[in-house]
Amino acid sequence: MNVLITGGMGVNGAVTARLLLSHGIRPVLMDNRMDLSLISDIKNDVELVAGDILDPQSLEKIITDYRITHIAHLAALMPGPAEADPRLAMKVGVDGTVNVLEAARAHNIRRVVYTSSKAAFGAITGKHAYPEYLPVKEDHPCNPLDLYGVIKVCCETIGNYYRERYGVECVVLRFVSIYGPGKQARHGALSLHGQIIEDVMDNKEVSIAGGGDQRNDTMYVGDVAQAIFLALKTDPLHQWTFNIGTGKGVTLGDFERVLKSMFPRARIKIGPGLEVPGMKEMRKNSYCIFDISRAREHLGYNPEYDLEKGIKAYVEAIRRLR
Ligand SMILES: NC(=O)c1ccc[n+]([C@@H]2O[C@H](COP(=O)([O-])OP(=O)(O)OC[C@H]3O[C@@H](n4cnc5c(N)ncnc54)[C@H](O)[C@@H]3O)[C@@H](O)[C@H]2O)c1
Repeated sequence: MNVLITGGMGVNGAVTARLLLSHGIRPVLMDNRMDLSLISDIKNDVELVAGDILDPQSLEKIITDYRITHIAHLAALMPGPAEADPRLAMKVGVDGTVNVLEAARAHNIRRVVYTSSKAAFGAITGKHAYPEYLPVKEDHPCNPLDLYGVIKVCCETIGNYYRERYGVECVVLRFVSIYGPGKQARHGALSLHGQIIEDVMDNKEVSIAGGGDQRNDTMYVGDVAQAIFLALKTDPLHQWTFNIGTGKGVTLGDFERVLKSMFPRARIKIGPGLEVPGMKEMRKNSYCIFDISRAREHLGYNPEYDLEKGIKAYVEAIRRLR
């Protein structure tokens, strides 16, 4: 398997590259920003290519030069930058994804994994929200609330079209909220959990006035990598869209408890209630727990990181990368 990771120097790409390496696969990391900060320790073990998914020729050249057989398509703009520049977000999201799928079609790529998000669903309400948190399945209606979610739904649909019309095996993975090293620096406000962990590591005081009781499926980036790897290699596949999370809800209060056990001198105060003050409307309405039974059954996906293991891995990664 020769794997190209678009957006390979990002948060999820860096961890996916590490997992592939541990399975003896030397991935090609393509990114339009040569920021090696998340891969400084493995930079000599992977292929690094500066390239833009908006440039079809450079995609084709990489595929030919490295005899690529599988693509993990991660390059995208996050919600904040997408709202700030809708045209660019659409270009990178939609045109970029079509470029990847066209290149896959032209070069008989075995599998394309598209990384979507729970933002595709939009508001999660009723029985799927507090207090019942009935797990959300893949067939939950998609009514995205922000541009990022709109682009995800659009690209999922295009991926499905390419599979049905041209036989390009595009697998869609929809992720819940993710925490992982690098997200805090790159995604800022989107990374509340990372911010809490890093503030505790830096011996800073953490004080959040509320939201400590809200449940949310929150996954460590190591399980993102597992899902991407399984979606690349599981053959044959009979399902093409998967909800990926932990299948459990955790609260900020749980984060506080685990961090205090790891850092006994940590100064964290998280107030009760369901809302973190100042959280954007879109995020406030998306707390939920994913039903991951389809991924378990068809991909053999089995989340490895509970909160203790995830936070420990996060702390170790930050210490390694700093
Ligand atoms: N982090 C999350 O919480 C989360 C949740 C659900 C889904 N996802 C999805 O996972 C994927 C990866 O997310 P991430 O957290 O690693 O984001 P990231 O921002 O850390 O990484 C994305 C990478 O794509 C690169 N990129 C952007 N435009 C590009 C272009 N035109 N050509 C080549 N590279 C380009 C960026 O430089 C960046 O390194 C995205 O599709 C994202 O929507 C992330």
